[in-house]
Amino acid sequence: MLELPFLPFCALLGGLGVACVAFVSAWCQQWRGGFAWDGSARMFNWHPVLMVTGLVVLYGAAALVYRLPFSWRGPKLPWKVLHGALALAAFCLAVPGLVAVFSFHDARGTPNMYSLHSWLGLATVLLFSCQWLAGFASFLLPWAPAWLRALYKPVHVFFGSTILMLAVASCVSGINEKLFFSLGTWRRPGVQHGPGDRWAQGGPGAALPAIRTAGSFPSRHEKPPRRSRGWRVAGLGCPGRGERCPSLPKEKRDNGVRPSAP
Ligand code: HEM
Repeated sequence: MLELPFLPFCALLGGLGVACVAFVSAWCQQWRGGFAWDGSARMFNWHPVLMVTGLVVLYGAAALVYRLPFSWRGPKLPWKVLHGALALAAFCLAVPGLVAVFSFHDARGTPNMYSLHSWLGLATVLLFSCQWLAGFASFLLPWAPAWLRALYKPVHVFFGSTILMLAVASCVSGINEKLFFSLGTWRRPGVQHGPGDRWAQGGPGAALPAIRTAGSFPSRHEKPPRRSRGWRVAGLGCPGRGERCPSLPKEKRDNGVRPSAP
């Protein structure tokens, strides 16, 4: 498996994210008429920009917070707050992004929710909202018991990565759909269509899945196991990879525990 130094890798992911936002914004500004908030096609243009920025770039950054080596030491609370705040910022961008597309449809009398993209997108946003609420209630509110946090943590991690994957799929299907709708039917007067707008559409189409795929590499990096009280309270063994858990009987301790990477 490819392993890259972690911090340059994060910088690469950040660069890809910024490039995606830049490509989508340039596409909407240069080849799709720019931005407005008036129910017109220019209002629709906020939709791709806000969805890509919120649900892929900011949410992707939130997902990387716990992989930063600085977050493995010291108090965990500031990192939890940063993780939650980035996800909340993503949600705050997604809401006007959705308002833009629904208002655009309403203003033109186009029916809502008629495509695979719209259902996939809405499901993604609903799952995202549930994930944020459940994460906030379990990890940030002080009264959640340690056993509940321990039980819910793997579920949160699983859904976190699934929702990011769904967000990328929504963006790629949305770009594809917009391209399909506009092929041959929409031309901005006086603007030359050619390789430029193909790059502006195809660039994020390729970079978005790349961000998602690349985002899984750093998980290979060794992270020192944290002894979480919750795991012991819940009787679930040890959270850290390759960690020997003293609370388990010897035969269980030795079976199924992967040795640490050399
Ligand atoms: C995570 C990201 C995204 C989500 C959650 C999402 C969600 C949605 C939803 C719920 C609708 C239905 C609105 C309605 O029926 O009135 C919609 C429509 C649409 N979206 Fe997205 N979207 C995302 C990204 C994108 C991107 C990047 C584009 C690129 C241009 C895009 C293009 C479209 C288009 C063309 C429509 C209108 C046609 C349709 O309803 O399928 N979307 N989106």
